[in-house]
Amino acid sequence: MLTTALRTTLLQAAKSRQLRQVVENAPVSRSVVARFVAGNHTEDAVRTSASLVADGLLVTVDHLGEDTVDQAQANGVRDAYLELLGRLGDSGLAEGGAVEVSLKLSAVGQSLGADGPKRSTAAAHEICSKAAEIGTSVTLDAEDHTTTDLTLESLRDLRRDFPWVGAVVQSYLRRTEGDCSDLAHEGSRVRLCKGAYAEPASVAFAETAEIDRSYVRCMRVLMAGQGYPMLATHDPRLVDIAGALAVQHERDQGSYEYQMLYGIRPFEQARLAALGEKVRVYLPYGEEWYGYLMRRMAERPANTAFFVRSLVSKG
Ligand code: FDA
Repeated sequence: MLTTALRTTLLQAAKSRQLRQVVENAPVSRSVVARFVAGNHTEDAVRTSASLVADGLLVTVDHLGEDTVDQAQANGVRDAYLELLGRLGDSGLAEGGAVEVSLKLSAVGQSLGADGPKRSTAAAHEICSKAAEIGTSVTLDAEDHTTTDLTLESLRDLRRDFPWVGAVVQSYLRRTEGDCSDLAHEGSRVRLCKGAYAEPASVAFAETAEIDRSYVRCMRVLMAGQGYPMLATHDPRLVDIAGALAVQHERDQGSYEYQMLYGIRPFEQARLAALGEKVRVYLPYGEEWYGYLMRRMAERPANTAFFVRSLVSKG
């Protein structure tokens, strides 16, 4: 009960401009943010990616920024991705898709007026062209439920030229099991996560147990299908079930992958990789870390306690 209230409050806080100013200007130690975010600049993302790859992990890099308010900002995000991909290509890190990128369509203008979806798809197309040039892939992050149809439509458009573009589905949405059936075809890369936004009960399961059961149903569909499931969770029970499903469906290691966030359960990431599993780390970078950090706080009270302690001890 208390956890649900804290989660709701933190997800509301993620949207608050006033609180954002307070937190961003607080003397919060850099190390708190650094636990979850590579740094502010492209070189931070490239350096941290190199270190993760050296440890036997795969990476998907996210340039932090969402709720883009004008076209100039959207162009800035697109350019940041093009620069990042250029640097990943030069460094050899993109080879074989070892380091790819994750993209939020809202960051490249999806909500900017009636032709926002068209313009954000065009920006994503440019980013995908650059990724193709250096031999890696792009995954379209899932945002709140009002954007799900638009994002899946963009995915279909992009996959005409770039069939490897990854989809993301969220098990807390009631529709997702059906989306998984549609997406579980050959060559289709699909990330399954629980979902990180505050959603109404009309579209989403609210109870943890329901969300977890939905995750298992969706995972069954994806693991039984012909696509490439990307199982994004830190939940030990779900990781175990994924392993059992891989055995049941006679999937070889490498025909699916685990994904976890940078800074969360790093020992588990290393353990799975040591067993020969593909493990991809979602690595955010950039100055717009506030919303991302608030969603991580909402997921786990221990993260919140860690953050508040740091604020108090450095304040
Ligand atoms: P949950 O948060 O319920 O945790 C389950 C269990 O995992 C805990 O009980 C604990 O045992 C363990 N655990 C979790 N955190 C831990 C920690 N810090 N230390 C130790 N144990 C811990 N969301 C979205 O809406 N759109 C998106 O595009 C994405 N993309 C995405 C990519 C990747 C790679 C990941 C891993 C996640 C996302 N998400 C996302 C976020 C996702 O929806 C979800 O909010 C978080 O992953 C948290 O959910 P878990 O499945 O980890 O379970």
